[in-house]
Amino acid sequence: MSDYVQFIEGIKRKTGIDLALYKEAQMKRRLTSLYEKKGYRNFVDFLHALEKDRDLLNEFLDRMTINVSEFYRNGKRWEILQNKIFPMLLQSNKRLKIWSAACSTGEEPYSIAMVLSHHVPLSQVQVLATDIDENVIQKAKLGLYPDRSLAEVPADVKNKYFNKEGQFFKVKDEIKRTVTFKKHNLLKDNYETNCDLIVCRNVMIYFTEEAKDQIYHNFSKSLRSGGILFVGSTEQIFNPARYGFEVEDTFFYRKK
Ligand SMILES: C[S@@+](CC[C@H](N)C(=O)[O-])C[C@H]1O[C@@H](n2cnc3c(N)ncnc32)[C@H](O)[C@@H]1O
Repeated sequence: MSDYVQFIEGIKRKTGIDLALYKEAQMKRRLTSLYEKKGYRNFVDFLHALEKDRDLLNEFLDRMTINVSEFYRNGKRWEILQNKIFPMLLQSNKRLKIWSAACSTGEEPYSIAMVLSHHVPLSQVQVLATDIDENVIQKAKLGLYPDRSLAEVPADVKNKYFNKEGQFFKVKDEIKRTVTFKKHNLLKDNYETNCDLIVCRNVMIYFTEEAKDQIYHNFSKSLRSGGILFVGSTEQIFNPARYGFEVEDTFFYRKK
């Protein structure tokens, strides 16, 4: 058994995370640079250390889950969400069930709430936001961001929903209240049901084809008929019909 395979098995036992479902070359590269920096010689030595050292385990989790995010990431897509997708979804239901899956540090679910607030009062906005990584969820709940995370936020939204705190911007409580954060592993845990909108962006790129296939099937089951899946701007679905999806717009899929 190669030492990476032993590592995968050990990590699965310890954390429930199955690294075999992430693209191997990419993952190995990221983890090798971490263990070398820490002075370990191979994956098995690294595993033994991780089993004993909670801080090192956190660093490993941080390295394997790439957490970069920003508000209104790929801004033009968010205009489509605001001007086309939400008006369409709101025709059948004024209280939408929305899931931001792999939400990282919160920029995505907070952006969803801000966009939806153009159409309905915030008291009617509810977004479930999930991620595998508890550390990012803690940061998301804090809601404090550097200027560069807000580069694509329209000026009126920035004025309305953020408070400046020194060099940082804090999301106002009225937006924070609309988002519920929860830990969830897309490769293992049960999925939500009856969703109107699932936003899952910039995480599928890390998974194997087999894992992606399973996740798209799961998302399809999670959506109500007519519900929408919004994916990242490098993540077109190759054969949407296979999952019961039709293309609604670029990077938006409608469940039949
Ligand atoms: C690059 S961020 C994307 C954040 C946001 N969706 C965006 O597009 O800006 C990828 C996120 O996926 C999360 N992630 C990785 N594997 C996951 C899994 N198996 N289940 C849920 N989240 C996962 C990571 O923790 C990380 O926060």
